[in-house]
Amino acid sequence: TELPLLFQPLTIKNVTFKNRIWMSPMCQYSSDRGKATDWHLVHLGGFASRGVGAIVVEATAVVPEGRISPEDLGIWSDSHIEPLQRIVNFAHSQGTVIGIQLAHAGRKASIYAPWVCANAADTRMSSAHVAQKEGGGWPDNVYGPSDIPFSDTSPKPIAMTEEDIKYVEDAFIAAVERCKKAGFDFVEVHGAHGYLIHEFLSPISNKRTDSYGGNLTNRMRFPLRVIKGVRKTWADKPLFVRISATDWAEGPELGEDEEWKQWGIEQSKIFLGELKSLGVDLVDTSTGGNLVQQKPPLKHGYQVPFAEALKKAHPDLLIGAVGLLTEPIETESYLKDGKSDVVLLGRELLRNPHWPLTAARALSVAVKPAVQYERCWTDMLAPL
Ligand code: FNR
Repeated sequence: TELPLLFQPLTIKNVTFKNRIWMSPMCQYSSDRGKATDWHLVHLGGFASRGVGAIVVEATAVVPEGRISPEDLGIWSDSHIEPLQRIVNFAHSQGTVIGIQLAHAGRKASIYAPWVCANAADTRMSSAHVAQKEGGGWPDNVYGPSDIPFSDTSPKPIAMTEEDIKYVEDAFIAAVERCKKAGFDFVEVHGAHGYLIHEFLSPISNKRTDSYGGNLTNRMRFPLRVIKGVRKTWADKPLFVRISATDWAEGPELGEDEEWKQWGIEQSKIFLGELKSLGVDLVDTSTGGNLVQQKPPLKHGYQVPFAEALKKAHPDLLIGAVGLLTEPIETESYLKDGKSDVVLLGRELLRNPHWPLTAARALSVAVKPAVQYERCWTDMLAPL
């Protein structure tokens, strides 16, 4: 019988992923001035030894002011390389492919880590969730396409000048050079969730009147500049882009905008056409994050229809699906039905780090965990 698609290897450029169950990038708010810590080694290392086909290291800021929180990972200096390299080396020792998500948080920068926000008694919290200077934040140095805050309590961003645009573009390229030194197998550009690149794409956050705002071609200009620079520098290795395929903003709250003024699936299809011609290998399909009032219909696989629509529009681009994927058989069906080429799991993997092995059992596949764990799993797989 044919191996279930979840467990079929996939080769992109010079990299072979042992299966199509990938770990979605997830901020840990556990870095030390942008540097990965022991937490990252243990956390990510644990997944590397438990059968995922790839690990995507959390959003990693290309400049300090591009972090979401003061505790975010960064890669803006050479001193960030070594602790990342240690994690990469461990992943490789387990036969696990590992990449990193390069990010700039744009107008959503300088907020506290969730557990700091949750602690109302924390004296650093002088206004809602904005990370203040005394808490390591930089509320006066937050950037975006326009000076429109994300929410009533968010910092007011500084509208980026042409110089700022060039500075961020150069920072992405310098970050890619450091990714090479750290030994990463692939890079993912974070173009989703209301962070800087998505902010340029979306008319909700981009009200510029220069060549970076207005119609879709202009709004795509900065994102494509960054991705083109990254592609050129990361020439022979897999390059992915995560996008939000919709703002979930259709509806009365935005008025009767013309089609080109929105950011939704039709605009995403056009964007993917551009990504394809730049040589991007895979698009990781998320949604939302740029509009406080968004109301996504949260249910299992709720973002899969977006992956499917993008796959239909661009059959020769690899597509990833993510979002509330928890059930092995259902998740396998998304691949079987051609809705995506790989799946990324976030919270379900945190709940059950052995999910690849759980899925293997559910789909009657014999897989080998780390030798240290082998006996307990092979015994359970006895009939195979
Ligand atoms: C996330 N998510 C996320 N996404 C991303 O592109 N970069 C990131 O750094 C993070 N950070 C992050 C932290 C935590 C704690 C969570 C729970 C989520 C989103 C994540 O990658 C994924 O897309 C969503 O969580 C939906 O998938 P699941 O969790 O339903 O499988």
